[in-house]
Amino acid sequence: AIENGINGWLRYAPLPAHQRPSNLRLPGAIMALSNNKTSPVYTAGQELQAGIKSILNQTLPLYHEPDEWLGSTILVATTGEFYGRQNGDVKASATLADDGYLLRVRAGNVVILGQTERGALYGAFDYLSRIAQGRFSDADLVSNPDAPIRWVNQWDNMDGSIERGYAGPSIFFSNNAIPKNLNRVTQYARLLASIGINGIIVNNVNANANLLTDANIDGLGRIADAMRPYGVQVGISLNFASPQTLGGLSTFDPLDAKVISWWTDKTKRLYKRIPDMAGYLVKANSEGQPGPLTYNRTLADGANLFAKAVQPHGGIVMFRAFVYDNHINPADLKADRANHAVEFFKELDGQFMDNVVVQIKYGPIDFQVREPASPLFANIPQTNTAIELQITQEYLGHQDHLVYIAPLWKTILDFDLRADDQPSLVRDVIAGRRFSNKHGGYAGVVNVGTNTTWLGSHLAMSNLYAFGRLAWDPTQDSQVLLEDWTRLTFGSDPLVLGVITEISMASWPAYENYTGNLGIQTLTDILYTHYGPNPASQDNNGWGQWTRADRYGIGMDRTVSTGTGFSGQYPAEVAEKFESIETTPDDLLLWFHHVNYTHILKSGKSVIQHFYDAHYDGAKTAQTFPIAWESLRKKVDTDRFNEVLFRLRYQAGHSIVWRDSICQFYYNLSGIPDAAGRVGKH
Ligand code: GCU
Repeated sequence: AIENGINGWLRYAPLPAHQRPSNLRLPGAIMALSNNKTSPVYTAGQELQAGIKSILNQTLPLYHEPDEWLGSTILVATTGEFYGRQNGDVKASATLADDGYLLRVRAGNVVILGQTERGALYGAFDYLSRIAQGRFSDADLVSNPDAPIRWVNQWDNMDGSIERGYAGPSIFFSNNAIPKNLNRVTQYARLLASIGINGIIVNNVNANANLLTDANIDGLGRIADAMRPYGVQVGISLNFASPQTLGGLSTFDPLDAKVISWWTDKTKRLYKRIPDMAGYLVKANSEGQPGPLTYNRTLADGANLFAKAVQPHGGIVMFRAFVYDNHINPADLKADRANHAVEFFKELDGQFMDNVVVQIKYGPIDFQVREPASPLFANIPQTNTAIELQITQEYLGHQDHLVYIAPLWKTILDFDLRADDQPSLVRDVIAGRRFSNKHGGYAGVVNVGTNTTWLGSHLAMSNLYAFGRLAWDPTQDSQVLLEDWTRLTFGSDPLVLGVITEISMASWPAYENYTGNLGIQTLTDILYTHYGPNPASQDNNGWGQWTRADRYGIGMDRTVSTGTGFSGQYPAEVAEKFESIETTPDDLLLWFHHVNYTHILKSGKSVIQHFYDAHYDGAKTAQTFPIAWESLRKKVDTDRFNEVLFRLRYQAGHSIVWRDSICQFYYNLSGIPDAAGRVGKH
């Protein structure tokens, strides 16, 4: 039963005879053209062998040299290896991008070619996924990733705890060291590779300088060794003050010669142990973290310090745009945390080295249940950018609530920023297409832990799966991805597929409804836990996550004309739309405008009545989740059935706590009763 969790969507459950595709003709052997056990091509051979055995109960022999077998094959190789050996008939290399693959199934032979070694592995996983879903047909396809950077971030601390992790302690660290047994790390790499993820930052953005001791560098090397067969490159978060705190220097000024040589030396040591290290992630001058501003140097000076150090080794520096002042004055009606990223970064455009990528959270605040796309994506055209998404449900119910997040991510990825009045979808900006940038892509904060379900909840894994698939191709439909995940995780029974699709697709709208709607943010406790209802915590704090709620009205006035000016950070067309109440969509109204509770929405309802109705609707939807799940009692193995049921029941109950707290809070504040008589004096 534990395997059901550990293997995630790679269970490769036996396919019932009636689901076997009639056109499935299995070749006689597997030929993986690599003898190198650390090569993803070699891994691909093993995955194919084990997967086919598990799904179809057939053991195909596995070879690594062409002359070992002359019959039909599933051949997996890099294009270089393949063409080097002969076989000029498969014309693929011209159309394959880095990490892309070709999958050709025809006349009893299967050819899987990767432009890179990991590309070949991705092709093998695609082939297995088709067989496992019983959705096989002759195929001849080329699949290329939309963006080169497809990384996950772990917020793991060296003591083994995980910041905003909800699935037990770290698989990467314990007791301030890297553990001996890294089996779970390899299993994690396997899951990541199967969805096209090619890099991972293993430690918290709030980084500990002790990660850079010689012993820990060796430990990081072991982590990289454990993930390399799956093509997942390891990188680390840095603490900007390390030259001082760990190195004993008197300064960490990024322009100081001693500081530069300290970082150069550390970087050399790291690359000596990990020649394919992905690079660095840096959180500087944010939430108390040290950074270049201490020495009146710019954030670009800070980023370039590391960029120069990793450049000779081919490394990348992900520099976070999450820079803001967390002691702002709530009494100042012009103050706005949402403005800070553009204020800090816009003037630095053009000053970052080529191997720096600015990593931008999807919205201007912090992973809320709904935010507008960060305007920074449109403000630094000469800079590589990546979007930061969050799989760990920090503001979305900590994996105790089912919230399938892909539809939220799509609202951002598909958003058109209209830079220079031209189509400027966020996904085209981060892929480098819109402004002709070389690097860019996706970073997902995952925070898996030692829990055997990885995220603490079986159903939450659809988010990790969808993240990887969207980073590969953001035009894919959220529901299609969910259905693939469901078939792989729970099988193809139509009832199972129907129920999981229905509750997952209903989950984000429901969560938004019973937490914070109309763009007011999640309304959770923002001071400590980021869990459960606490609308009062959303004002009068220095963190700048404000709702500006009083007796008469609610919402942040972020207009240029009367508010904080945030809407003016967007290119003209979008700025104009958000500047006016008339053209701001209801679901972001309170993000951009302060209105009375009696203000009438486009829907015809007042704001306060919408609050009441939405909270009742959301909680009502959540009540249906455990009931729908109950119908799968005989269709899902007992362990997973019970674990999921437990969580969905909890969510149904907690959604009522949410509903009643929020409704009562705004009733108390506004004194306006609910037209339906549900909220008011009791
Ligand atoms: C949020 C989160 C922190 C995290 C920070 C970040 O504020 O609550 O735990 O460190 O984001 O992304 O840097």
